[in-house]
Amino acid sequence: MSGYVLAIDQGTTSSRSIVFDAAMKPLATGQKEFPQHYPDSGWVEHDPEDIWKGVVSTVRSALRKAKLSAGDIAAIGITNQRETVVVWERDTGKPIHNAIVWQDRRTASMCEKLKAEGLEETFTAKTGLLLDPYFSGTKLAWILDEVEGARERAEKGELLAGTIDTFLIWRLTGGRAHVTDATNASRTLLFNIGTNTWDDELLKILRVPKVLLPEVKDSADDFGVTEKALFGAAIPILGVAGDQQAAVIGQACFEPGMLKATYGTGCFAVLNTGETMVASKNRLLTTIAYRLNGVTTYALEGSIFVAGAAVQWLRDGLKVIGKAADSGALAAKADPTQHLYLVPAFVGLGAPYWDAEARGAIYGLTRNSGPAEFARATLESVAYQTRDLLDAMRKDWQDGANDTVLRVDGGMVASDWMLQCVADMLDAPVDRPTQLETTALGAAWLAGARAGVWPDAGDFARSWKLDRQFRPKMDAAEREVRLKGWHDAVRRTLSTT
Ligand code: G3P
Repeated sequence: MSGYVLAIDQGTTSSRSIVFDAAMKPLATGQKEFPQHYPDSGWVEHDPEDIWKGVVSTVRSALRKAKLSAGDIAAIGITNQRETVVVWERDTGKPIHNAIVWQDRRTASMCEKLKAEGLEETFTAKTGLLLDPYFSGTKLAWILDEVEGARERAEKGELLAGTIDTFLIWRLTGGRAHVTDATNASRTLLFNIGTNTWDDELLKILRVPKVLLPEVKDSADDFGVTEKALFGAAIPILGVAGDQQAAVIGQACFEPGMLKATYGTGCFAVLNTGETMVASKNRLLTTIAYRLNGVTTYALEGSIFVAGAAVQWLRDGLKVIGKAADSGALAAKADPTQHLYLVPAFVGLGAPYWDAEARGAIYGLTRNSGPAEFARATLESVAYQTRDLLDAMRKDWQDGANDTVLRVDGGMVASDWMLQCVADMLDAPVDRPTQLETTALGAAWLAGARAGVWPDAGDFARSWKLDRQFRPKMDAAEREVRLKGWHDAVRRTLSTT
């Protein structure tokens, strides 16, 4: 069989399909952005039909560019924006509401109410997550509450629900498979990550009928076969993982203690903790890194909502740079004697603060502060936030998170200046690999290995190659001053102060 594998990477702002060759190199890419909908303050929706059409067209264009037909593809791997949830009709496949996106804060008051009832501990103990609107559970409950007749229809089995992977697989298989993988299930607030089952108590609290939910499979498994009419031949779907978990795999972080951070719109740092489910005492998430051959590997995750989005703000809001890639060069020109701190709480703060109501702030402005100082403060905010996550990880898992090297990927890591800053703030080395398509590669590897056309985990891990290592250069005293300034800035920004 051929060694070509196709990865579908359905992200928050665009969908991409990448054909990888037998040497695991990207051969051709199809990409399509799709509209974002903001129906109210703090609300974010996607039209599932836009996502579906975009995915189909990117698969077709990737195949065309690679000069391959569907029959040449050994397997498909799917990776996706996580937590975003869709509900659709079993009979017609038609969604009953737009997808509610992970960034959407509409269920903040529902979360507060559940917290006031003393339920956060129950949710955390079972799911590893917190009662925050970020996760799918309360979004799904909102759709069932707000769309007329939805809950009764759900109870009768007329509706189906799922994260984006589940919706895509349902459509790709012509409605034959209603499935997800353990990593996506672990982000729903409904899945018990200890027992690997949907949790009846949590379903009852959120009034979600179990019949709505998909079957949960390993991350490398048989998820169904695409309808022949879609791409010209049936292709088996053999790998699925949420995008941050796919990046853990693509970075070959297979050993406990290995850590990756993906710098896209937000930043997601994920530390492999092996078969140990480390409960966080420092407001990190415990989550499933991957489940292979029935064995669950766990992780600690720190999720920051704004990283690259702050650079977009420099470009589109302040208009001080023409393109995101210029941010490092501008930051390098900043006056080193000025200490500006940007707290990019544009949509609240994620880990480890979890403050949905906080909003962004900048401190330390003087008459001499200009575009270069803003650019520097923006990139530094990403480094400070990464440091906060690593500190929390070290406190949560003293045995495993010391001596950590951070493997990085995502759009922002093209900036050497930013990565040096991250290494300086972490006081730890930062490794950038040669292959930066790590998320898609992770999904492709799951599928390719399952199909038997790609290497096993050991050989795949050995194929990981370093492009450049950034070592800390800043002296300890300066680091301390800066971190103190950052924490002071965060303290002043939190909504409770
Ligand atoms: O948890 C949200 C995350 O999966 C979104 O990732 O890359 O689509 O912004 P991305």
